[in-house]
Amino acid sequence: MSKVLLCSADELTPGSLKKVQNEVVGDLCVYNLDGEYYATLDMCTHATASLAEGFIEDDLITCPVHWGQFNIKTGEAVAFPCEKHLRTFKIVVENGEVFADLESPSPEAVEANIES
Ligand code: FES
Repeated sequence: MSKVLLCSADELTPGSLKKVQNEVVGDLCVYNLDGEYYATLDMCTHATASLAEGFIEDDLITCPVHWGQFNIKTGEAVAFPCEKHLRTFKIVVENGEVFADLESPSPEAVEANIES
């Protein structure tokens, strides 16, 4: 497992998100959805945009540039112009800290995401 620290568990309130720099896979975005943590790549799959500057609504992240959307839990591209799924990462919470496993997708990830 290749684990990277994203944030402390009390740093993100439910409904909030944060960009975390990473040189191995590219910058990440960590989300708190109703007390559960999720992580995806930060870069929108449509063009150059940081999803950390977007908006959370339910389980979706809306890209701030062309308003495409992804399901945060599965990485599925659900709104045009986003068509390529977003890479997700498995979350591990230990001792009050939130980590992403860079080698594993989230358990809910769509199949295409797992292959990316
Ligand atoms: S850059 Fe994200 S929808 Fe276009």
